[in-house]
Amino acid sequence: ATESRKQLVEVAGVPMKATTIDNWTQIQNFEAKPDDLLICTYPKSGTTWIQEIVDMIEQDGDTEKCQRAMIQHRHPLIEWAQPAQPSGVDRANAMPSPRTLRTHLSTALLPPSFWEKRCKFLYVARNAKDCMVSYYHFQRMNKTLPDPGTWEEYFESFVNGKVAWGSWFDHVKGWWNTRDRHQVLFLFYEDIKRDPKQEIRKVMQFMGKSLGEAVLDKIVRETSFEKMKANPMINRSTVSKSIMDQSISTFMRKGTVGDWKNHFTVAQNERFEDIYREKMAGSSIHFCLEL
Ligand code: PPS
Repeated sequence: ATESRKQLVEVAGVPMKATTIDNWTQIQNFEAKPDDLLICTYPKSGTTWIQEIVDMIEQDGDTEKCQRAMIQHRHPLIEWAQPAQPSGVDRANAMPSPRTLRTHLSTALLPPSFWEKRCKFLYVARNAKDCMVSYYHFQRMNKTLPDPGTWEEYFESFVNGKVAWGSWFDHVKGWWNTRDRHQVLFLFYEDIKRDPKQEIRKVMQFMGKSLGEAVLDKIVRETSFEKMKANPMINRSTVSKSIMDQSISTFMRKGTVGDWKNHFTVAQNERFEDIYREKMAGSSIHFCLEL
């Protein structure tokens, strides 16, 4: 393991990057503003996709304006921290309002000010099996996260929540439970894939915007997997190989529903579904496990 392949450090039982924990006080003291929109996701659930959708809506479908900065900087990740670089909090503090920000934090770890200021939350959930596959390939190529080990080893780490940002199950359940008390638009990756225009319209309405059909159609086209994969402001092609080695796996990898079927053995699938039923018991959220 190289120096950058740091082990994760736990906060309240949730494994996180050590650099984030080093900056934890600044993160927890972050001051949200009432007109902030926070994009919330478990890692590898469609964060980048919804970011581009939100930005295209915000810019009234103007693709040029969406090229103004790398996507990771347009909507800073609140908990992002690396020594000698502006943190996610620093970047957010430097932004004019209204701001769109981003987090992978669970409800338990979110800086309290987001709740107090009654911000809007846009959550995207992705079925756990595809999420696990996507995260596995991401950890193979992302040198700031621990080496995932074999697929069999990674399966165990994932179902036990021993991956950065913790348990998929806790994350999804926690955010699902905030819907009654907060302004939350809860979307599913699989729905955006099936009917992008319908889901994009929901985002537009949630953002309080009104765009014509032609603009909505343009946003559907411009946020397709193929278009986004070819876009250097999105595909991380400028990120150094020492951080993301895209000769191992690409950041914009496949963008499909059901790739788990190419990875899970029959036994793993049965075991996963048992674990899923146990961990999700009592939650009203519904994922189709056969997709
Ligand atoms: S990250 O690193 O947590 O921000 O990753 P995130 O963006 O949440 O998730 C990456 C996965 O989303 C896929 N993706 C898309 N799918 C369909 N359409 C579009 N436009 C799109 N953009 C990103 C991306 O390919 C990753 O999934 P996998 O299954 O690995 O391909």
